[in-house]
Amino acid sequence: MIETPFNYTGSKFKLLEQILPLFDYSKPNFIDVFAGGGSIYTNVLDKYETIIANDIIKDLILIHNRILLDDRIIEQTKELCPGKENPEGYAKLRESYNEQNSPEKLWALMLSCTNNMMRFNLKYKFNQTYGDRGWNTNTDKKVETFKNHIRQYEDKLSFLSVPFEDVNIFGDRTMVYLDPPYGRIKNSEGTIGKKQISEAGYNCYWKEEDDLNLYCYIKSIDNRKSSFMVSGVLEHDGNTCWMLDKLIKDGYNYKILDFDYNKVSRKGKKETVEVIITNYVIEKQKVSKDGSLSVLYDQQNQLKGMLGPFKGEDNKQNN
Ligand SMILES: C[S@@+](CC[C@H](N)C(=O)[O-])C[C@H]1O[C@@H](n2cnc3c(N)ncnc32)[C@H](O)[C@@H]1O
Repeated sequence: MIETPFNYTGSKFKLLEQILPLFDYSKPNFIDVFAGGGSIYTNVLDKYETIIANDIIKDLILIHNRILLDDRIIEQTKELCPGKENPEGYAKLRESYNEQNSPEKLWALMLSCTNNMMRFNLKYKFNQTYGDRGWNTNTDKKVETFKNHIRQYEDKLSFLSVPFEDVNIFGDRTMVYLDPPYGRIKNSEGTIGKKQISEAGYNCYWKEEDDLNLYCYIKSIDNRKSSFMVSGVLEHDGNTCWMLDKLIKDGYNYKILDFDYNKVSRKGKKETVEVIITNYVIEKQKVSKDGSLSVLYDQQNQLKGMLGPFKGEDNKQNN
């Protein structure tokens, strides 16, 4: 698996082994609607005929796009990183980004800020503090692997930077992957609450109406008979995500992923349940190290051991 060089907040890299075998590989096209650091689209480039990666943060998409083209953004970002023990350099870089943004400045900030967790305020200004870190030898290695990998697929990979509802899904030939920001909680009457189920630095991009719009958008993918997989946090700290809960109640297939967030956060009762929901019955596939796919008809037990039971399989939608 290829690790992208962004240390992106909310990256699905650690869940790749569980997610990759569950995509619908019978479709020729793949769209990563909330691509973020790109850990998902990067790892399916050899599996589809066309791949589109979208994210609302334009500079982020420009970073991906420019790495695909040549090395210039890599050299520029290296130069811009203030490095360790240089809080003044970091402050200047952040100020400069907020005055005149550019993809290389954003990448340098992402590599240099606290816990690599980019954070924007409600005016879309980058406001994360200095993390006393920057470009290092590990970044060099990740960049080298990442660029060499994605450049092999230049002809079939394209990028978009629009709000999710403007990503058009035509017809029934697309596998759409959706990894949105944290959804809003379900309140006691079962309607959408105001609060998001957890915190992320890009929550400012997630508007109040987005949960309902996303629900309708996902239903429209299903109506067109394209395939969707949506991933996200269903339960956190005693709260339930309205949108994911509604899709499960609608009868779509879902699976609880195995990820121990509770090791990371020990404050309060923060039990977290992360799920994927699909409108197709998953083919039981294994992605081997060389990237080839094999269907595990004769290895059910091994598959179950690897993935756990697939809940809701009896609730088949589209077959
Ligand atoms: C959970 S992250 C995706 C992480 C990604 N799957 C990865 O592995 O790095 C959610 C992404 O949604 C983007 N986003 C937020 N609001 C959006 C919107 N309205 N339309 C499209 N993208 C949006 C954020 O910028 C963020 O990168």
